[in-house]
Amino acid sequence: MSHFFPFTRLRRKRRSDALRIMFQETDVKVSDLVFPIFVEENISDYVQLSTMPGVVRIPESRLAFEIERFAKAGIKSVMTFGISHNTDETGSDTWNENGLVARIARICKDTVREIVVISDTCFCEYTTHGHCGVIKNNNIDNDPTLVNLGRQAVVAAHAGADFIAPSAAMDGQVQAIRAALDTAGYQETAIMAYSTKFASAFYSPFREASGTTLKGNRKTYQINPMNRREAIYESLLDQQEGADALMVKPAGAFLDTIRDIREATYLPLAAYQVSGEYAMIKFAAAAGAINEHQIVRETLGAIKRAGADIIISYFAMDIAEQGLD
Ligand code: PBG
Repeated sequence: MSHFFPFTRLRRKRRSDALRIMFQETDVKVSDLVFPIFVEENISDYVQLSTMPGVVRIPESRLAFEIERFAKAGIKSVMTFGISHNTDETGSDTWNENGLVARIARICKDTVREIVVISDTCFCEYTTHGHCGVIKNNNIDNDPTLVNLGRQAVVAAHAGADFIAPSAAMDGQVQAIRAALDTAGYQETAIMAYSTKFASAFYSPFREASGTTLKGNRKTYQINPMNRREAIYESLLDQQEGADALMVKPAGAFLDTIRDIREATYLPLAAYQVSGEYAMIKFAAAAGAINEHQIVRETLGAIKRAGADIIISYFAMDIAEQGLD
C-alpha cells in the first residue's frame, strides 16, 4: 500500500481556519516576549529614533507612566538600557547606588512589582569610549572589567532587578557576577547571560538608540558570526558558570545556532531580535514592500520554531496591543 499521493493529501488539514489553527505547531505568546526599553536621564521630551521608527528613548521622568502602560497592555518583562549623561572611562555610574542603572530598576519595580526586570549589564552606554569594559593599552581588559560587572550586578540586584543580563562578552563574566551576587546576599537574583553574542552588523541602529560613541568594533570580545562550534561552546561555558538562562543574539540570521544550543542544554533559551532586524522590517514595510504584521509573526514564529523559549523584541508592545494573528 502506498503512503504517497493520491492517498496522502496534506491539504486535508489546511482547509479552514479552524483546521489550520488546530494543527499549528508553534505559538508566540505575549508572555514569551521581553520588551527592550531605552531610558535617558536629564531630558524632558521623548526622543524618536530615526533608524528605529516607532522606538523612543523614554525620559526617566516618564518611566513610571510607561511601565504602567506596558503592564496594562500585557507586557510581563522589560530589558532595560540606560542612556547616561554621566559617562567616564570605566562606566562607574553603573555601580553608583543612585546611578541610572539602579534608578531604572527601582522605578520599574516600585511602579509594577510583578514586572520582570532584566537589567542589561554592560558599560558601553556609560563609557566615554563606548566599549563594553575597561581599556588598558588599547585593549579591552577582561579581568578588571569582571570586577566592575560584579559591582554593577550587585547594585542592580539591590535596586530590585530580577535578572542580571551581562552583555559585555567578557570571558568569565557569568562566574564573576554569580560570585559577586552571592557574596552580597543576592542568591535569589538570576542571570540571563548574553551567552552567544555575535559581533554583528545587525546592532547598528542600537548605537543611535543607546547614544554610544564607539570607535572601532567589538571583534576582540564578541563571537565571529562565521563560527558555529564556538557559538555553542560559549553558551555551554555560561551554563557551567551558573547562568539561569542562555541567549542567542541576534536571532534571525542565527536560527541554526538557536537550534544547536536548544539541543545542547536543558536551560531556558532566549533569542534577541535586535535593532537591525527591527529596522529592516520597519523600513521595508514603510516602503510598501512587505506586510509588517505578517512578517513579524513569521520572524518571531521562526525564532520559536528554532528552539527559543523567550524572545526579546522591539515589537513586543505592538503585539501586546494588537495580537499576532
Ligand atoms: C551591549 C548591547 C548591545 C545590544 C544589546 N546590548 C550592543 C552591542 O553589543 O554592540 C544590541 C541590541 C540591539 O541591537 O538591539 N550593551
